[in-house]
Amino acid sequence: MTKKKSILTGDRPTGPLHLGHYVGSLENRVKLQHEYNTFVIIADVQALSTNFEHPENLWDDIRKVTLDYLSVGIDPEISTIFVQSLVPDIAELAQYFSMYISVNVLRHNPTIKTEASERGYKEMMYGFLGYPISQAADISIFKANLVPVGEDQVPHIELTRKIVRRFNQLYGETLVEPKALVSNCPRLVGLDGNTKMSKSLGNAIYLSDPDEIIAKKVRSAVTDPARIHPTDPGHPNICSVFAYQKTFNPEKTAEIESNCKAGKIGCVACKKMLSETLTIFLEPIRERRKEYEKNPKVIDEILMEGTKRARKVTNTTMSEVRQAMHIDYLNKARL
Ligand code: TRP
Repeated sequence: MTKKKSILTGDRPTGPLHLGHYVGSLENRVKLQHEYNTFVIIADVQALSTNFEHPENLWDDIRKVTLDYLSVGIDPEISTIFVQSLVPDIAELAQYFSMYISVNVLRHNPTIKTEASERGYKEMMYGFLGYPISQAADISIFKANLVPVGEDQVPHIELTRKIVRRFNQLYGETLVEPKALVSNCPRLVGLDGNTKMSKSLGNAIYLSDPDEIIAKKVRSAVTDPARIHPTDPGHPNICSVFAYQKTFNPEKTAEIESNCKAGKIGCVACKKMLSETLTIFLEPIRERRKEYEKNPKVIDEILMEGTKRARKVTNTTMSEVRQAMHIDYLNKARL
C-alpha cells in the first residue's frame, strides 16, 4: 500500500472567510481531504507580520476562521486544523532556511515587491520581508505534496520549491517539493466591478453573512452600465452578476445569458435569482455552523487536538532536518 500524499494549506486569521476563498481554495480542500493527509494551518504568526499592533484580536479571529472551515465541511476527524504559533518547530525551520535565502530573492516576491513600491523598504519590517520563508517552512515541515491555494499564493509556493531544492542540495534529500493547486474556477470578481473579491476592498460576501445582507450586497452590484431599462439588450460578459451566475448557477447560465442579451430578463430579476441561489448554496454551510455554535467549546478542542497531531509530524521532520544539517548534537537533551 502506498502512503497517502499530504496537503498543507491555510489562511491568516484576519477576518471571516468569503465566497472568493470558497471558490478559490476551500472547495478543493474539502474535496481532497479524503484522498490526502490534510493539514490546515491558521497562520497567526504570519498575520502578525502586518497586525503586530493588535495581537489581542488574534484568538477571536483564529476561532472565527476555524468555524468557517468547519462550516464549509473540513472534517476535523480526517483533517488536522492547527495554530501556527503553537508549533514552534516551524519558526526553527524558517530560521535555518533564512540562512541561505538572499534578501534579493525576497525582494522579487510579488507581494513584497508591491508593498515596497507602495511604501518603500524604509517602513518594511524584517518579519514581513521574511514571511515567504516562514510560509515555506509551514509547507515543507509537513512534507506537503500539494498546496491548494488562491492564485495570489502561487509565487510563495514557487519560492518554497526553490528553498526545498536548495536544502536538499546542501544537506541531502530530506524535504519534499510541493505543487500549488489553484482552482480551475475563474477567480471570483467583486460585485463592485473590481477584479477580485477581498476584505480590504470592502466588496466581500462572507460565508457567515445572513440572507438580508447578501441580498443587499447583490442589489448594489455593478451590472452592464449601458443597460437602463430591463428590456434593453444586456452584455453579460461585462456584468459582475453574470460572473456569479456562471459560478453558482451553472445549469441556468445559458438561459440567463440569452435572456439577458435579448432583454427578456432585467437586472433586478437576475439579482434576485442570484440571491436565492446563494441562499441555497449556503444552506448546508449554515446548518453546520449552527451545530458548532451550539457548543463553542468544541472549537477549542478541535484546535488543541489538531495542534497536537501537527506537532508530532513537525517533531519528526525537525529531527531529520537537524540530522541532515549535522546539528543534531545532544539530541537526547531535546524535549
Ligand atoms: N499566505 C496565506 C494567506 O495569506 C496563508 C498561509 C500561511 C498559507 N501559510 C501557508 C497558505 C501555507 C498555504 C500554505 O492567506
